[in-house]
Amino acid sequence: MPSPRDASPELQEALDTTSEAVNKTLSRLLPETDLAEAKLFDAMRYGVLAGGKRLRPFMVMESAKLFNVDSGRARRVAAALEMVHCYSLVHDDLPAMDNSDTRRGKATIHKQYDEATAILAGDALLTLAFEVIADRETHPDPHVRVELSRKLAQAAGGHGMVGGQMLDLIGEKEEFDLGTISRMQRMKTGKLFAFACEAGAILGKADESHKKALCNYAYDLGLAFQVTDDVLDVEADPSVIGKPANQDEQAGKSTFVSTMGKEQAKMRAEMLVHQATRHLKVFSGREAMLKELALYVLERRA
Ligand code: IPE
Ligand code: IPE
Ligand code: MG
Ligand code: MG
Ligand code: MG
Repeated sequence: MPSPRDASPELQEALDTTSEAVNKTLSRLLPETDLAEAKLFDAMRYGVLAGGKRLRPFMVMESAKLFNVDSGRARRVAAALEMVHCYSLVHDDLPAMDNSDTRRGKATIHKQYDEATAILAGDALLTLAFEVIADRETHPDPHVRVELSRKLAQAAGGHGMVGGQMLDLIGEKEEFDLGTISRMQRMKTGKLFAFACEAGAILGKADESHKKALCNYAYDLGLAFQVTDDVLDVEADPSVIGKPANQDEQAGKSTFVSTMGKEQAKMRAEMLVHQATRHLKVFSGREAMLKELALYVLERRA
């Protein structure tokens, strides 16, 4: 079994470097404007630019490196995926969903602006993500752009993140068994993680076996990540995680923690991370950072 730990200095440095580069791309893709509807663009920048671990962009960049993909192209996909992730957080925090007042250490968009602006900013981030992917600058081959769009749509939509969010809300009223909780968490979080890793393989026109290995790694890691998020909800300090704690129990949500308790949930996350890293063996040592990332997911504090 891998042993839990903080990010190694190498991983921390790699995460910081990627965040800096992707933040520049995001800032360029989300320009300020003096149009009458400037409030919308301000809110989009507010929801994306400050804070966030940028783990999904990191996975895009690392998987792209495995196939020698041009980093500028990969950065555009990384930025597009982060927009989808940020949109999901903006909507997740709304009063109709988790009703959270803070995110990434700041007021949530609906608190800083208003609910309608938060809904619209989320909508516009989602659509901008597809505009970015469909642009020729992302990849000269239209087949690659179509495949990226199709896979991102599948990961984010009704059979992916959005479907998982629906289950999450139904799980406040109904008690789910472990199989359903697993499926829900894989949809909520695993699907976008899987897109993050598969994107590098699509950009690099990798063969199916490499795509599959990366997807399987990310899908297991995504579930482990959501399990640790649920553990942090019960044990973390809100000032460290930058969002409210103890929200899941208050809302009566079905999670691994509510079903099997915190300690068993942590063991499940360890088992999943171990399983995730086994899928990477096909890369014969070039997957070191993705392996480090998996171990970090276990001991993360935010
Ligand atoms: C939060 O994701 C939502 C979950 C899927 C649990 P992150 O923990 O990656 O959030 P940021 O991007 O770092 O704020
Ligand atoms: C949200 O899960 C996952 C998404 C798809 C947005 P949570 O509701 O547990 O995420 P946090 O704890 O608010 O970040
Ligand atoms: Mg939620
Ligand atoms: Mg939430
Ligand atoms: Mg949570």
